[in-house]
Order: sequence, then structure tokens, then C-alpha cells
Amino acid sequence: MAFVDFETAFRLLNSKDVVAIPTETVYGLGGKIDDEDALKKIFSTKKRPFFDPLIVHLSLDMSPTDYSTDWPPIYSLLVQKFWPGPLTLIAPKKSIVSDLITAGLTEVGLRCPNHPLTQKLIAKLGVPLAAPSANLFGQTSPTEAKHVESEFSGSVAVLDGGPCEIGLESTVVRYDFLKKELQILRPGFISITELKKVCNAESVSVVSAQSPVSPGQLKHHYQPKAPLVLIYINRPNLGISPDQIHEFEKKLGVSESQPITLNLSGAPEQIARRLYADLRHYSQTEKALLIAQIEITKKQDPNWSMIIDRLEKASTLVLQPSAAHF
Ligand code: TXA
Ligand code: MG
Repeated sequence: MAFVDFETAFRLLNSKDVVAIPTETVYGLGGKIDDEDALKKIFSTKKRPFFDPLIVHLSLDMSPTDYSTDWPPIYSLLVQKFWPGPLTLIAPKKSIVSDLITAGLTEVGLRCPNHPLTQKLIAKLGVPLAAPSANLFGQTSPTEAKHVESEFSGSVAVLDGGPCEIGLESTVVRYDFLKKELQILRPGFISITELKKVCNAESVSVVSAQSPVSPGQLKHHYQPKAPLVLIYINRPNLGISPDQIHEFEKKLGVSESQPITLNLSGAPEQIARRLYADLRHYSQTEKALLIAQIEITKKQDPNWSMIIDRLEKASTLVLQPSAAHF
């Protein structure tokens, strides 16, 4: 069944089924928000626990206030500037949004994806699509149609919209009505700097949330099939000695691994576009041991926070400069 055309995707979604849909960030596994069977199928297909809420995807002609009871003025400014685009806004939900979608929470995540096929599909359906990333729970998100096909061994219908332009999931933000601040629950392509530019006009402060308010902040997520060692370094381009590889192997409980160093050179947007595809690709090498080296100074750079966040969650082992003797 794997690849389907637009009309088949439309028909399946109208027949209580789910379809993998392209977005500018990653592929999503979509089901109509008014269809309990499809919503349940999303969770069962992904083997996703019901406590992890889904994002509701709107087309441009839909209004977020049809799904939310309170829409702060700052959200209207953010929508104006960033929709359609990789920004998910968490807001108090209306009862039209099923508890299955929000995992029983009183708030819902709303996003307007920037991909022409998916925009057209949602508009034609006339109903938003709930869609988590189209991967098994906890695994690396798909950024190409063929990733979805292999993730579910061809059992899920996929609408191929080409490789995702951004390559990492949307920035998730929540406005705290009491504190009057915007909290970043998941860093993404729209950085804290970009958000601050809009919020300053409204004297809203933007903070990176520390405590896990969003289930997407679970410590391990986005994990590739092969173990990934993340090494923070003080200087770029340091080699890894056989002794160090041996040390990693001992810590991970593996032997005779094939070390593969990920290419993390270039601008963060370029790395974002290829990171998940690389993690998938290199995981296929037998006994692969993936290594990511990144300068510790990048941890302070807002443009790198999406990369650091995903690498930390995808890694099995994280080494700080001192522990790695660099
Ligand atoms: O770019 C994206 O956001 C992609 C594409 C497909 O749109 N979707 C995506 O969905 O990454 P998912 O389910 O893999 O991640 C959604 C994140 C999770 O961290 C989830 O916990 C959080 O958004 N989230 C969703 N609804 C929420 C809510 N009501 N309150 C707090 N966090 C929420
Ligand atoms: Mg996901």
C-alpha cells in the first residue's frame, strides 16, 4: 500500500484511516480530528502511549480560535509572522478537540504546516488533521517518504511530498497566562531570538522551559537504531583514538563496533535538514557506533539549540569536555 496519490490519501482519511503526510519539518501520521477510530489508529500504529498529546494541523483557511477558548494577542502576532510554518502554539482547548488528542490535558497544540500538498489536503477535507511524527514512538522522525515506508514496513499509506525542507520538528511554545510569558517547550527552527523579536513588541518575555511540561521533553527520544555518542569538545576537528572507542564500547556494552562520525559542519539549518536522514542511513551499517562531536560553546548559541536538543535526546551516551579528556 505504501505510496498513495492525493485522491487516495483523501479517500483513506475520509474512511477512518490514517495517512503519512509531508510537512516542512518532518512527515506526520495524520488522522481527522473528528474521527476517534483514526485517532486510536495513530497511537496503535506508532505504539505511542496515550499520555503523549498530538498536534492539530490546520489549513490556512481555518481559524485556530475555532479550536481554542483563549487566544492571547501575542499568538495572533506569532501567527501573522510565522504561519504557515514550523511553530506549534499550545492553547486552552475547546470541547470539539477530543481528549484523545490532548491526552486528557486541557490545552491543545495547534500548527499550520507549510507544505502545499498537506495544505490542499486539509483544506479539501475541511477538518484539521491530528498528526504526530510518522515514526515508531521514541525513534527518529522521518524526513523522506521512504523513511516512513521502511519504519512501518510498507503497512502505512504515505503521500510523498519530497524531502522535508527543515528536517527537525516544529518549535513548540505555550503562553503562560499567569506569568505572562512565552515558554519554549521544544526548541525548533524558529529560535528564541526570532520569538523575542515579536514578543518584545508586546512586552512578553520568552523563556526556555526547564521542567517537563511537555511530554516531548522526555529525556530519550528521536533515537536512531545504532547507539549514538555525543561528545562536547572545546576545539573543533578533534580525532577520536582507538582507546576512546574502546571506552565507549565498554560503556555501551558493545564490541568490534564500526565508528561513524556524523558530519556536523555547516550552518545549523543545513545540519537540521540532513541530521535525521543521516542517523537513519548510518544506523544501517552493521555494528555502527555513531559519534557526534560538537563544540561546547554552541550550547549557548540560540541558533544551535534545536540541534543540541535532538542530539542529546537521541544519544545513548553524552560526554562533557572534561570527562572526554579534551
Ligand atoms: O513539526 C512537528 O511538530 C511535527 C509535524 C508532523 O507537524 N509533529 C511532531 O509531533 O513532532 P510529535 O507528536 O512527534 O511531537 C509533538 C510535541 C510533543 O512533544 C508533544 O508532547 C507536544 O508536542 N505537545 C502536543 N500537544 C501538547 C499539549 N497540549 N501540551 C503540551 N505539549 C504538547
Ligand atoms: Mg515525534
